[in-house]
Amino acid sequence: MSAILTDRYGRVHDYLRISVTDRCNLRCVYCMPEEGMEFEPEENMLSFDEIYEVVRVLAGLGVRKLRITGGEPLVRKNLEQLIGRLSSIPGIEDIALTTNGIYFAGRAEKLRAAGLTRINISLDSLRADRFSLITRGGDIKRVLDSIEAAYRVGLDPIKLNVVLMKGVNDDEIDDFLQMTIDRKVQVRFIEYMPIGHDDASWKSKYVPLSTVMDRCVERSWSVNPSGEVYGNGPSKNFRIEGALGSFGLIHPVSDHFCQTCNRLRLTADGNIKPCLYWSDEFNVRTYIGNDQALADLFLKALDVKPESHEMAKALLSEQQSHMPTLRRMSQIGG
Ligand code: GTP
Ligand code: 5AD
Ligand code: SF4
Repeated sequence: MSAILTDRYGRVHDYLRISVTDRCNLRCVYCMPEEGMEFEPEENMLSFDEIYEVVRVLAGLGVRKLRITGGEPLVRKNLEQLIGRLSSIPGIEDIALTTNGIYFAGRAEKLRAAGLTRINISLDSLRADRFSLITRGGDIKRVLDSIEAAYRVGLDPIKLNVVLMKGVNDDEIDDFLQMTIDRKVQVRFIEYMPIGHDDASWKSKYVPLSTVMDRCVERSWSVNPSGEVYGNGPSKNFRIEGALGSFGLIHPVSDHFCQTCNRLRLTADGNIKPCLYWSDEFNVRTYIGNDQALADLFLKALDVKPESHEMAKALLSEQQSHMPTLRRMSQIGG
């Protein structure tokens, strides 16, 4: 692997998360405020041509894996076209999508044919009424249809993202684990992150993921680390003995995984974010067209990438002024 994109701590970056829009057809409680958000004007969004140019340069610097995020990436028109173009760039080996699954079923074949290799779908509850409350109006049936469509087009294994929240969905841990016993799916439990939250409500809902292992012990389920590596992200994976599927734990707050960070982010409005929970940003727009200048900008971004984020501090801090980024999750793409 080319090690050009190496930061001060020796971490090699071969993975780019590209947010293609800050818009979303849902408003999940942990991500967007109830009243919605002011979206970035269309003219500030990177065009497909611009995204292509950025990826082409990064592929030359060693980036091999892409993840398309949002907001909800499938609200961006003609996403198939972008995926098709990105998959033709020499060096790009993996193009994954993180989606809420509402619009995926009808487009699964086209996206797959364009070059999509993997999919992660958010599913924070298995109960229709609760799902609707968490997403503020989402129809779980559409997501379940999308999961079936993902199987149909051969995106396997399918990952389901579950952000655990105290008193909201933490009573469904067993149901999600049971799902991994019954189906070839990977359920990933994610710790609720303080991103974009300016009140104490985050802290009151935060659940450390040790709870998931506690549930396995209580149910007398034997759990082993799962050997398969299906991804480029921070999930630690396990399998209940005899299960068809597996589960993953993503615990940025209780036990961060920054030492193995291999990723950069590009926001829909063209900002490189070297770290999810950090304020530094570098806008690429005026550098596009000058490959060397663009490469230098990425190296400059890597130069200020912190050794680790400080989400755990937010748990201890009394005030929320601690927040190092004012962006909402929907403006970063997770
Ligand atoms: P793969 O493992 O390649 O499938 O991807 P992933 O798990 O990184 O992607 P996904 O978009 O599904 O993200 C799952 C969760 O991990 C989301 O809540 C992301 O915000 C979170 N996440 C991904 N990368 C990072 C990171 O670098 N830092 C932190 N704190 N959270 C991350
Ligand atoms: N904490 C943890 N995960 C979050 N996501 C969105 N907001 C948060 C948050 N505050 C997740 C979504 C999606 C992924 C991109 O990020 O559930 O699966
Ligand atoms: Fe939309 Fe995803 Fe945020 Fe939910 S988590 S509101 S689906 S961007």
